[in-house]
Amino acid sequence: MSKLKVDSLSVFNIIEFYHKFCRTLLLAFFIYFYYYVIRKAVIMSVLKVDKLCKKIGKKQILKNVSFEINKGDILAFIGPNGAGKTTTIKCILGLQKITKGHIYINDLDIEKNFCDAISKVGSLVESPDVYTYLSGFENLKIEARMYKNVCLDDIYRVVELVGLENRIYDKVSKYSLGMRQRLGIASSLLNNPNLLILDEPTNGLDPEGIKDLRVLLKRLAKSGVAILISSHNLSELESFCNRVAIISRGEIIDESTIKEIKEMDENKYILKVNDAYLCKQFLNSNDLILNKTHIEVIKDENDIALFIKELVLNNISVYEVVKENMTLEEAFIKKSGGKKIA
Ligand SMILES: Nc1ncnc2c1ncn2[C@@H]1O[C@H](COP(=O)(O)OP(=O)(O)O)[C@@H](O)[C@H]1O
Ligand SMILES: [Mg+2]
Repeated sequence: MSKLKVDSLSVFNIIEFYHKFCRTLLLAFFIYFYYYVIRKAVIMSVLKVDKLCKKIGKKQILKNVSFEINKGDILAFIGPNGAGKTTTIKCILGLQKITKGHIYINDLDIEKNFCDAISKVGSLVESPDVYTYLSGFENLKIEARMYKNVCLDDIYRVVELVGLENRIYDKVSKYSLGMRQRLGIASSLLNNPNLLILDEPTNGLDPEGIKDLRVLLKRLAKSGVAILISSHNLSELESFCNRVAIISRGEIIDESTIKEIKEMDENKYILKVNDAYLCKQFLNSNDLILNKTHIEVIKDENDIALFIKELVLNNISVYEVVKENMTLEEAFIKKSGGKKIA
């Protein structure tokens, strides 16, 4: 009787152990599936620059530059002239040798597998190389011959993408700088890249040209292309990008999402009043008298309503209240504790 009891107890233990084991195995499988299959498909790293160093002669141009771009990201690569943007980009494109560190494009190490890695990259470094006495279409046909699998349909596709349909048969000499820039981008898209690298594409563009470029890049990012766009001017790119990497003297000094930087934004209001000096007793230490009729105050939405009420109750006339948003540059300076981009 007691032997039977012991036996049934051990069978019960074995079954329970088996169940626990299966459950753990299933959980481990789901964790693996999430991290290595779902995450990889959804958050795909297209470009990874890992501790990149570049020395030219005795000069250390890049020091441990690291950043990553995922599918659909537009990364603003910001830094003043001479910071190392073009050198970084040339290393990514294999136009300069890497001194130390690694660059991966679509998970391929460019030093080990350059041809495959670069096959999915489109780029525009410095001003686009075009024959101005030929039409945009003829230029694209010449460029298309460089690739094995690019056909006429691809030319029509990229022309439509950059919105040059109406002018593509005109000579390039008649194009504006913005249109030449778009032709350059069309050319870099011929091989259907999933990574587009543009070095200072806004240089010399008028506001209309910059607006067109923004619309185009956002459309490309939406279709899944990852974009690296460099500039020395953060405010010019803030409406383009979802991420920003700031380089100064060959080093990345910040890498964040635009959202993170913008969260540093504070509620700053400019008020137009009849006499700014009468407001002095109601101001906090962070608030300012800008001139005879304008004050600047930093307050939450609720507090600004109470503040205006207080002024009015004290016979101060308020004519205008304007909310000032910080520029990305101001927000960055605040985030980095006063560090300027230089
Ligand atoms: N071939 C070179 N020989 C020596 N120094 C160079 C060379 N190319 C670039 N540099 C130096 O590297 C630094 C970074 O240059 P660059 O990458 O062109 O900056 P950015 O594109 O940010 O303006 C600069 O100080 C520049 O003078
Ligand atoms: Mg440059």
